Amino acid sequence: MNMANTTGHRIIGKPLIYYEVLDSTNLKAQELAEKGAAEGTIVQADRQSAGKGRLGRIWKSPSGSGLWFTTILRPQIDPKYGAQATLLAAVAVVETLAVAAEIKGTIKWPNDILVGRKKICGILSEMYLNEAAIDYIIVGIGLNVNMAKEDFNETLSDIATSVYLQTHRKQDCKELLEVFRISLEKWYSIWLAEGFERIRAQWLAYNGTIGSFVKVKDNDVEIFSGIAEGIDDYGCLLVRNIDGSSQSFDFGEISIRY
Ligand code: BTN
Repeated sequence: MNMANTTGHRIIGKPLIYYEVLDSTNLKAQELAEKGAAEGTIVQADRQSAGKGRLGRIWKSPSGSGLWFTTILRPQIDPKYGAQATLLAAVAVVETLAVAAEIKGTIKWPNDILVGRKKICGILSEMYLNEAAIDYIIVGIGLNVNMAKEDFNETLSDIATSVYLQTHRKQDCKELLEVFRISLEKWYSIWLAEGFERIRAQWLAYNGTIGSFVKVKDNDVEIFSGIAEGIDDYGCLLVRNIDGSSQSFDFGEISIRY
């Protein structure tokens, strides 16, 4: 796997700002971005007291056991393509797991990284506009690294996993983050220089959603079902129903029938 940085210069993780505890790295990154923080700034916390998950959920983020961090990006692209940032971050996470820990992760649309059927990582991106242009996108990543079985409650242990649970080796979070920085740098440079096509191809290679039967949910209520056929340029999932009709969905939630 080629981990070379295609541009030669480094944006991602410059600077990397580390906190022992934050409410949420997304909130801190937003605050710093509003004050003009540079593109590529990473905000990391050892522990979050109010980590944010998707759909208003809490993201459990205890000390010493995970990578909880947010990257500030300022791509000069049409905001309608902003959601692609989440997809490229997912690609970088899967690559990081493969390179650093020999773990084969798959992407569950839009932004969960699974190992088998268990979630190892979640991504929460937020885009902020200035007039009609992107001011910044913050990409928050929660990666379960050294969590043992007892660190997950009963509900979570059925659906969540960690690098440690997969490899039986404690992993150095700093090293993992370094691999991620290199990977994101590469994919971000490709995205800015060439557009979405190579990202889409890699996302498709890593994904575990396309070709499966999925149920699309809105607030836990099923609103559509069918075979997931692809993703479009806006990051939307295209689903074809058994009656032949097809619909695209932006960032909703799906369940996959295995
Ligand atoms: C999900 O629900 O799957 C998304 C979880 C995202 C969690 C990460 S942890 C670092 C960053 N800061 C937050 O408050 N949330 C994201």
